[in-house]
Amino acid sequence: MSSKLETAATVSERLLTNCSQIVTLSGPSRPRVGAEMRELSIVRDGAILMHFGRIVAVGPRSEVEPLASRDAEIVDAAGQVVTPGFVDGHTHLIFAGNRADEFELRCAGMTYQQISEQGGGIRSTVRKTRTATEGELVDTGRKHAQWFLRNGTTTVEAKSGYGLTLESELKILRAVRSVSEQTPLRCVPTFLGAHEVPEEYSSDYHYEGPSYVELIIREMLPAVAQQRLARYCDVFCEPKVFSVGMARQILTAAKALGLELRVHADQFTCSGAALLAAELGAKTADHLEQSDSVSIAALKAAGVQPVLLPGSVYAIGSQKYAPARAMIEAGLAVVLATDFNPGSSPTASMPMVMSLACTQMKMTPAEALTAATINAACSLDVQHDVGSLDVGKVADIVVHEAEDYREIPYWFGGQRPAVVLVGGERLAQA
Ligand code: NIG
Ligand code: FE
Repeated sequence: MSSKLETAATVSERLLTNCSQIVTLSGPSRPRVGAEMRELSIVRDGAILMHFGRIVAVGPRSEVEPLASRDAEIVDAAGQVVTPGFVDGHTHLIFAGNRADEFELRCAGMTYQQISEQGGGIRSTVRKTRTATEGELVDTGRKHAQWFLRNGTTTVEAKSGYGLTLESELKILRAVRSVSEQTPLRCVPTFLGAHEVPEEYSSDYHYEGPSYVELIIREMLPAVAQQRLARYCDVFCEPKVFSVGMARQILTAAKALGLELRVHADQFTCSGAALLAAELGAKTADHLEQSDSVSIAALKAAGVQPVLLPGSVYAIGSQKYAPARAMIEAGLAVVLATDFNPGSSPTASMPMVMSLACTQMKMTPAEALTAATINAACSLDVQHDVGSLDVGKVADIVVHEAEDYREIPYWFGGQRPAVVLVGGERLAQA
């Protein structure tokens, strides 16, 4: 992360001032739980001083402005609210095409699972992604990166999972790396070879030979680890896709190779997937719409962070959101993320996700902001660089067109940040 910063900074000193509120999220360098999720450490009428892309002072204008040298470039926040750049802890950044055709089918009453069982869903995106060249995927990934940045997201987790062959999974992970190098968006890569069983391995094809799980364990995981293409391994753990037993095999092999774990768990069925995440000490368990109280207690006991994805519940037309309140009351360090993907959650907007979290899961605006910044950063182990506005951290900063942070989830579906700074550099707004 620091090497990106050194090449990015073009102006050595910047002063962001005239901020109505600076929501610093300053506090312990660990995930926030319980009432801590509502403590935002807000500075009113504040300013932030940056040197070479890092924060060197943050506080009231009267204290910070005198520290700036005469050469400092001034960025006027115009009396608006300032937050850390959003950290999106669950995205499927790289894929080819879109599934607007399936969206229309869902609008006419078909369910996400019915479409998937008829050969659509993830498999239809796999067909398009396999035939795309690496360059084409990088181009599309760069376009997606702009969508995130425009919405104030400066760091994302990015999964593979639309290739499902050794070569195409590696191609996707290399594309993630290229997008991270070629755009201001910081990407943390995750290998998700176990996103779906590919067509050629399904029983309809009467395939005989090593199973897809064996291919993942024997060929894909060693190559991903050896080429250092991912920091995390994820599995879509769901009865008709990868069972708890299959997921355990894959995740155990990944752990032995030094990868940390994330799990798509309990999205459609409370099947023991969250319990597996707890058993294996995964960093996160994601989705959790169907999780019961036993699963929540197990996640708490094992220190697994829940990553909640209300955009995917909204977009597939389900009514059942994850039990966020029960999780916060149980002391879990809740994370919010977009689940950006062409099927269940075609949005790159963290403010939209925060809005859904507030209206549908009854999180407070303060809890939603904590879940979208510092808690997400902790879930990706990047909290030493991003996720709060503290001295020493990277200057990834968003100025919102609002005076109060509660307006961020309140104005839904269209508001865009006024200014986004990445590593202290101001992005051109489209
Ligand atoms: O997190 N459930 C599995 N994966 C994605 C959906 C991917 C897709 O539909 O293309 C999810 O919702
Ligand atoms: Fe997902």
